[in-house]
Amino acid sequence: MFWLLAVLAYLLGSLSFAILLSRLAGGPDPRASGSGNPGATNMLRVAGKKLAVMTLIGDLLKGLLPILIAKLLGLSLHQQAWVGLAAVIGHLYPLYFRFRGGKGVATAAGMLLGLYPPAALLALAAWALVFLLTRTSSLASLIATPLTLPLLAWQQPAALLPACVLTGLIVWRHRSNLRDLFAGRERRF
Ligand code: G3P
Repeated sequence: MFWLLAVLAYLLGSLSFAILLSRLAGGPDPRASGSGNPGATNMLRVAGKKLAVMTLIGDLLKGLLPILIAKLLGLSLHQQAWVGLAAVIGHLYPLYFRFRGGKGVATAAGMLLGLYPPAALLALAAWALVFLLTRTSSLASLIATPLTLPLLAWQQPAALLPACVLTGLIVWRHRSNLRDLFAGRERRF
């Protein structure tokens, strides 16, 4: 059951809402404009608020739904976390889009919300604070994601290993943002 759910989560995660919604709306491909990232932040830059919010909700649900199903099926928290990670990996390396996906932040938020809501709230608060202070989405994501690890280590250690892998993957996917942040040329709102 665990492996089946992990594969289904990966296939669900592979649905890139930024790409699908921009195609449906006949708008610009987020992979070819702005930062080039198929995610909610770049949709806000290149396609406007409405499509950005829809992308955010769709990508978040991809992380949340598999965890809720795993809970219903009685999988352990540790297994739930790996299933959620499979959805995030789908978003990062989507089967349907030549394995070129996004940076995983919204899907990870959905995953955390399903696993342990206080961790998602902590990440959201940190993200909002850093974003308000710097107007830089990538910096907010890069600070908010690792901040959840000490809380999980303390309260939900069974989810810690998958959460560490999640954090590593998100930081890895933000490497071009890190270069731009250090060079002082990262995009701001
Ligand atoms: O969630 C993605 C965000 O952290 C960075 O997006 O488009 O600024 O590279 P972007």
